[in-house]
Amino acid sequence: MKVKFVALAMSFIFGAAMIISMSSANLPEAKPWKTPDKYAKMKAPKSTPESIAKGKELYTKHCKSCHGVTGKGDGTKAASLKTTITAFSDKAFKGLTDGDKYFRAVIGRDEMPNFEKKLVSEDERWAVIQYIGTL
Ligand code: HEC
Repeated sequence: MKVKFVALAMSFIFGAAMIISMSSANLPEAKPWKTPDKYAKMKAPKSTPESIAKGKELYTKHCKSCHGVTGKGDGTKAASLKTTITAFSDKAFKGLTDGDKYFRAVIGRDEMPNFEKKLVSEDERWAVIQYIGTL
């Protein structure tokens, strides 16, 4: 009697764990980003043809390997990542504030690297952000 109960409880726990792990693997949207106040109010400077060109150069050097030439998230390194990358042409991305984009692009999280050391000046950071906005 007791053994049966334990077996039943075990199979229930296993079943529940299976369902939970399967459903999280199928989630279409990654975990939501939360922009800290410090970044939320940031405003991008006005873009110029020069800033976009500079942004493209920096993007090619630092971002293309994962995000891909056209920003679809299909760079050569993307396949080896666990996280699915949203395309920069996606409506959800286009609708973000400057501060949201800055936080995601410069600070990052998990598999999205931090770029504070590689993109040193604010000009460089905004140039890349403006460039990905054109993709
Ligand atoms: C090593 C691979 C890698 C490199 C290099 C990389 N990224 Fe990412 N990026 C990611 C991944 C993975 C995500 C998704 C992260 C997540 O959702 O947790 C991401 C997400 C982002 C997002 C947020 C997109 C969204 O869902 O809103 C922005 C913006 C971004 N990256 C910009 C950049 C910029 C700009 C560069 C270059 C300066 C860059 N990334 C370089 C892997 C990379």
